[in-house]
Amino acid sequence: EWTSGNIIEDSIARVREQVGNGKVLLGLSGGVDSSVVAALLHRAIGDQLTCVFVDNGLLRQDEGDQVMATFARHMGVNVIRVDAEARFLAALEGETDPERKRKIIGNLFIDVFDEQAAKLQDVDWLAQGTIYPDVIESAGAATGKAHVIKSHHNVGGLPEHMKLKLVEPLRELFKDEVRRIGLELGLPSDMIQRHPFPGPGLGVRILGEVRKEYADLLRRADAIFIDELRRHDWYDKVSQAFAVFLPVKSVGVTGDGRRYEYVIALRAVETVDFMTARWAHLPYEFLDLVSRRIINEIHGISRVVYDISGKPPATIEWE
Ligand code: XMP
Repeated sequence: EWTSGNIIEDSIARVREQVGNGKVLLGLSGGVDSSVVAALLHRAIGDQLTCVFVDNGLLRQDEGDQVMATFARHMGVNVIRVDAEARFLAALEGETDPERKRKIIGNLFIDVFDEQAAKLQDVDWLAQGTIYPDVIESAGAATGKAHVIKSHHNVGGLPEHMKLKLVEPLRELFKDEVRRIGLELGLPSDMIQRHPFPGPGLGVRILGEVRKEYADLLRRADAIFIDELRRHDWYDKVSQAFAVFLPVKSVGVTGDGRRYEYVIALRAVETVDFMTARWAHLPYEFLDLVSRRIINEIHGISRVVYDISGKPPATIEWE
């Protein structure tokens, strides 16, 4: 019988056989796939694994601390956390084109990752969280966004001199199997059941130019939305939900007059394959609560809107 238990045993045996005494490097993003690879490799080869977690300043609230708490503190995995916020913000300064923003973020990620890799001695293997659908996607006619996503995550962009061999222990698994073995390996269920988060992170959820001020406001609004979704048992019922920062100022009134502040859009969708999606019909009372909290708690936001566009034609992300 093919249980998560024997998938794990089997993968561990194969990884041990494949890498022997070699050292393995993994780019840990905090997403489901790389997290499960980290947990699995740690179980298989312990200290031979080193993870690099790049904080690009475009992560969600407390995300970096959570990754460090789960992997470094609780599980004892070697994780190097690189604080690269300033570099990413500097590289993005003045850039408003979404695809160029994606490229800048993707390329800088590779540079930062490579610098860390170069500092480590005798790394032989690069681990990746490739899963079976990724294998199919890149074999078939990868179109448009799928291709862009691949090229973004693709560490095939790593410099020649590194010459690392690939270890991809999830290559034959579907997402639900990856989730099951993640739970079995002891990863927290909220990490395993997380909505997808794009590689460029908040970089594509801040429309136009990315600024730290915007990212900070967006992080707080997003955290309120996600927190309330969890509290009201909506998080697991929607496929993906997040806040978007709109850099336009809209008028609001307070006791002492009119103020012009930014707008937050909330997006929540239901989908099976992320190719088409319907906007989630969240209850008005719930949206009301989230809107009030965001406006009351975040100085700088005076208006909240809910995105009621389906895909197609609207994409899930705003950029
Ligand atoms: P769209 O916005 O195209 O998104 O409807 C479909 C799914 O893909 C995710 N997405 C990305 N993921 N890098 C990624 O890793 C990207 O540049 C990117 N753009 C969109 C999006 O979050 C949704 O799950």
